[in-house]
Amino acid sequence: MREIKTVVIAGAGTMGSSMGETFAKFGYDVILYDIFQEALEKAKKLISLNQETEVVQGMVTKEESEKLLSRISYTDDVNEFKKADFVVEAIAEKIEIKHKFWKEVSQLVDEDVILCSNTSGLSITKIAEVIKNPERFAGMHWINPPHIIPLIEVIRGEKTLEENAEVVRELCVKLNKKPVVVKDAPGFVLNRLQFSVMREALNIVERGIAPVEAVDDVVKYGLGLRYACLGPFQVADLGGLDIFYNISSYLFEDLADQKEVFGRLKECIEEEDAKGVKNGKGFYDYSNGKDEELIRYRDTMFTKVSKTLYEEK
Ligand SMILES: NC(=O)c1ccc[n+]([C@@H]2O[C@H](COP(=O)([O-])OP(=O)(O)OC[C@H]3O[C@@H](n4cnc5c(N)ncnc54)[C@H](O)[C@@H]3O)[C@@H](O)[C@H]2O)c1
Repeated sequence: MREIKTVVIAGAGTMGSSMGETFAKFGYDVILYDIFQEALEKAKKLISLNQETEVVQGMVTKEESEKLLSRISYTDDVNEFKKADFVVEAIAEKIEIKHKFWKEVSQLVDEDVILCSNTSGLSITKIAEVIKNPERFAGMHWINPPHIIPLIEVIRGEKTLEENAEVVRELCVKLNKKPVVVKDAPGFVLNRLQFSVMREALNIVERGIAPVEAVDDVVKYGLGLRYACLGPFQVADLGGLDIFYNISSYLFEDLADQKEVFGRLKECIEEEDAKGVKNGKGFYDYSNGKDEELIRYRDTMFTKVSKTLYEEK
């Protein structure tokens, strides 16, 4: 089996930059590739910001952080994929864009290099249709922010060889992550759950049951604490399945079942070009540095919770 030393990550956006930081933290040489120079500059800035928080939180020392940063290089030259021992793609979530990318890149890399997509839920089997030697291709679905969240879903497409999916799973363990191997269904597992919550959250706002801020508070101060420690089946077992059965019998029929994007999410994108933190406006306003403030808050709090849950047992 090929030893993995150099990891090339395609797409230096929200995910790719933070994934790069994680590989570098565990000693891998990382090449971050993007078609836009501007994206590479932004990635450098984001990684520095994340590292500042990690140093303040005591997750890495200043020296370790500097070493980590020196292991990451940035490029817009597609030929750099020839240096890869492992490739993860985190470019735009559109099948045509991913197909164009993989058609070219899978021809450039050595034949024994394992290839992964960080797609949030596109079919791994479908992406694999254009890939040279598709048996080495799998899904490696990281969760935002990748340098903090432990879960990675590993997805086997129809053509993925089991031993290659196992290499990906073992690599996740080396990165101190918690991999879960799942089937190639739309959205895999995490996004099927996350978007069930999102659909109901939009529905609650749309029907005037509660505003955006109240929905966020209900999750932060209620469900969130439970779900940080327990899964929904454990929560139900603790609550009593008879109770859960009775609530399901009157509540399921009233829950959201829209089949199209609707409500505030639709308005934000289609009417207001509000993409969230990335362009300064979303469900909330992120002007005047409120974007960086929220990222810093998120990373600080996630790191504290993660230390409590996974390190101080
Ligand atoms: N944002 C999330 O919470 C999240 C979580 C898990 C998975 N993902 C998935 O990860 C992928 C990237 O998401 P993101 O949020 O980082 O997106 P993003 O928009 O922040 O970044 C994507 C980057 O890819 C670059 N890019 C686009 N086409 C390219 C190409 N052909 N070659 C090289 N670079 C290209 C863009 O310039 C951009 O910098 C998507 O598939 C997304 O579904 C996102």
